[in-house]
Amino acid sequence: MRIILNYFGELVSCIRIHLLIFSVLFYSRSLNLFILTNIGIIRIIIYIFKGQLLITQDQLTMVAIPSMNDMHLEEMLLINALHEAVKSRDFKSIKDKLEELLKESKIHFSKEEEMMEEAGYPEFFTHKGEHDRQLHELAHIIKYFTERQDPQAIAAYIEGNLNSWTIHHIQTMDAEMATFLQSHSTKA
Ligand SMILES: [Fe+2]
Repeated sequence: MRIILNYFGELVSCIRIHLLIFSVLFYSRSLNLFILTNIGIIRIIIYIFKGQLLITQDQLTMVAIPSMNDMHLEEMLLINALHEAVKSRDFKSIKDKLEELLKESKIHFSKEEEMMEEAGYPEFFTHKGEHDRQLHELAHIIKYFTERQDPQAIAAYIEGNLNSWTIHHIQTMDAEMATFLQSHSTKA
C-alpha cells in the first residue's frame, strides 16, 4: 500500500511539473522541446518502475572543441549532484544545486555564444534562442521549487526533461557548432 502511495505521489509530481513545463513551452512555442518533453514522460514512467537514471559520460557526444567537452562534463556532474540531492531529499542542497546549475549554465552558454559571434556562426540566433529558453525554464523550476519544496517534481524535471535536453542539445546544436568553429579556425 505504501509503495502504491509513493508511486501515486510521484505521478502527481510528474504531472504537476509537466504542466509547468508545458506552460513554459507554450510561452516559448518550442516544438522541439515539446517532442522532447513527451519522450521525457516515457522516461519518467521508466524511472518510476526501474529506479533512477543518471547521465553517464558515454551519453555525452564528444564535440570538436575540447574546452566545450570540459564544460559539458562539468554540467553533467552538476546535474548528477542535483539528482543526488533530490534522492536524499535535502531541500537546502537541492535549492543550492539548482541555483548553481543556473549560474554555471549561464556562464557555459555565454562562452559558447561568444565563440559563435566571433566566428560569425550562421545559426547563432537559433542556438542562442535555445539557450535562452533553457535558462528561462530552469529559472521557472527554481521558482516552483522555492514555493512548493517538492523534490519529486525536481526528480521528474531531471528525468523527464533536463537530462534528455542536455544530451540532445550537445548531440545536435553543440556538435554542429563545434565542427563549424573548428573548420573556421583551421581556415583562418
Ligand atoms: Fe549550446
